[in-house]
Amino acid sequence: MSDESYHDEDIEAAAHHVPEQFDGEYPIRIRGLINRFGDFAVHEDLNLDVKRGEILGVVGGSGTGKSVLMRSIIGLQVPDEGNIEVFGKDITDAEPDEVIGVRDRWGVLFQGGALFSTLTVAENVQVPLKQFYPELKQQLLNEIAAYKVVLTGLPENAAAKFPSELSGGMKKRAGLARALALDPELLFLDEPTAGLDPIGAAKFDELTRELADTLGLTVFLITHDLDTLYAICDRVAVLADKQVIAVGTIPELLETDHPWIQEYFNGPRSRAAADSHERGKALDKPQAGGA
Ligand SMILES: Nc1ncnc2c1ncn2[C@@H]1O[C@H](COP(=O)(O)OP(=O)(O)OP(=O)(O)O)[C@@H](O)[C@H]1O
Ligand SMILES: [Mg+2]
Repeated sequence: MSDESYHDEDIEAAAHHVPEQFDGEYPIRIRGLINRFGDFAVHEDLNLDVKRGEILGVVGGSGTGKSVLMRSIIGLQVPDEGNIEVFGKDITDAEPDEVIGVRDRWGVLFQGGALFSTLTVAENVQVPLKQFYPELKQQLLNEIAAYKVVLTGLPENAAAKFPSELSGGMKKRAGLARALALDPELLFLDEPTAGLDPIGAAKFDELTRELADTLGLTVFLITHDLDTLYAICDRVAVLADKQVIAVGTIPELLETDHPWIQEYFNGPRSRAAADSHERGKALDKPQAGGA
């Protein structure tokens, strides 16, 4: 395709799509967050800072409020109290217009994947593009979608497929392609490897790490997958007792004596994940005297 096929207005529309980069230390800062459903408090005085460029694993028992926390950060759940700053903007008391400038700077892969079943993969990827950049021409939309599909390791021809024609692992990649549609700085992944076989999960982890590194993403990654925590997370935040009770590297977390943390990271499954991670690292190292 030649350059002539674009008009000035296409290029101008695309240029709008270069967001300012956040250069502060913490793209997400949460203070005193309270979320209640009726009388039941999910979060009480929850605090958390997410560092720029890190993959932060978020763990906690089922129902401890991991997904609600993510929904609060992206404005789908209005907190009862507290402040949430995203890219230095307090989204909890911002006007809707101000939030718009932030909302196109994150991408989300929801728990369960949730692609639109009546749209092809390419059309799914185009949904956020059309929402935020209605002026983009179809040709450009197609090209961006095709690029995102390949970026997530899907074959080119997956773009024209419907979600029902994809395997579980491919659906996750398609969901990731949609989450990356707007070239976000912040990526939210809610249980991305749930339901994948161990090899598919490991590949998805690798992809996440690679994309985070090459695209300079900050990743908020909710997971139950201990392999994911060991393999790709820089730090882990633990949700329990309605708060983030600890944040740190896994060795740092092991030094805290909270019973849930001890049970989780010292249990047999965690040991197996840690061992397999160590074995993987040993294999990656060049062998002494080898080629
Ligand atoms: N819209 C809602 N209305 C009422 N209660 C809700 C709502 N959304 C979540 N909850 C409750 O809030 C609590 C936290 O839910 P959340 O989905 O955040 O848990 P989670 O940590 O993501 O769990 P899982 O690991 O199973 O995904 C649960 O008790 C849930 O029932
Ligand atoms: Mg959840």
